[in-house]
Amino acid sequence: MPPRIVVSGDPAALAAEFPVLAGLEPVAWVPDGLVLAPFAGGRGPDEQRARLAAVELPWRADAGPAPPLPFPAAVGGGVYRRSPGHAAAPPGLPEVVLVDGEGFGLAEHATTGMCLDMLADLPDGPALDAGCGSGILGLAWARLGRGPVLAVDLDPHAVAQARESAWASGLDALITVRRAGLGMLDPDEVAGHVVLVNAPHVAQDALLSVAGAPVPTGVLVSGLQADDMREVTGAWEARGLQVVRADGVGRWHAVALRAP
Ligand SMILES: C[S@@+](CC[C@H](N)C(=O)[O-])C[C@H]1O[C@@H](n2cnc3c(N)ncnc32)[C@H](O)[C@@H]1O
Repeated sequence: MPPRIVVSGDPAALAAEFPVLAGLEPVAWVPDGLVLAPFAGGRGPDEQRARLAAVELPWRADAGPAPPLPFPAAVGGGVYRRSPGHAAAPPGLPEVVLVDGEGFGLAEHATTGMCLDMLADLPDGPALDAGCGSGILGLAWARLGRGPVLAVDLDPHAVAQARESAWASGLDALITVRRAGLGMLDPDEVAGHVVLVNAPHVAQDALLSVAGAPVPTGVLVSGLQADDMREVTGAWEARGLQVVRADGVGRWHAVALRAP
């Protein structure tokens, strides 16, 4: 497969195929199609050959340069996530723009992917992105029109990246990003919020230790293996929340809970 190709089609056909085309690293729209640089985001040749084989539109090699991209683009949970160097979404597809940085959630980790797919199982309203990393979950929440977001992380690099990504995505009016440990949050920042927490057990426990045992409207727990997940889920159930969906990829589990 050449390093740069053009898939041609009318706008409706390209939009319909975009969830697959996104994985082939779109870098520019041209009058008759979409330019792709399949290896520029770091995905391997076998994976990309399989993706291109699934595209039902004609393609041709293109002579232009294949720009390096900091991470692979993808569509998940109904949102296109991309770097500033990727091509913009086709009309009608929500997108978030993540700047490069050290925060978790740029690459396609199974735990982040499950969370994006399970956002739909949670009630609308203000969200707490607890351990936001790159900011991906809060950005998706805001972009999908679900509600405003408070995003917090202990890691100052993640905080800077999430904040810059909110600006790059045009979502800075909806997202507040702050450096904070989960155990130090104000109870009002948890109660009445949908809590998105893809983080290790120790961080889940810190969140559960917030004074006054606040009750969120929903919780999305991810980043845990089976035993840890049972324990953390049980702690939220003890506050009256009910499991509405459980998912797993390999050893990783994710659970969505809602207030009755
Ligand atoms: C697995 S990453 C998840 C990032 C992103 N939310 C996602 O789903 O891709 C967990 C994040 O939680 C942060 N974290 C871990 N313990 C924390 C704590 N006690 N307080 C605040 N943030 C914490 C880490 O710095 C890291 O960015």
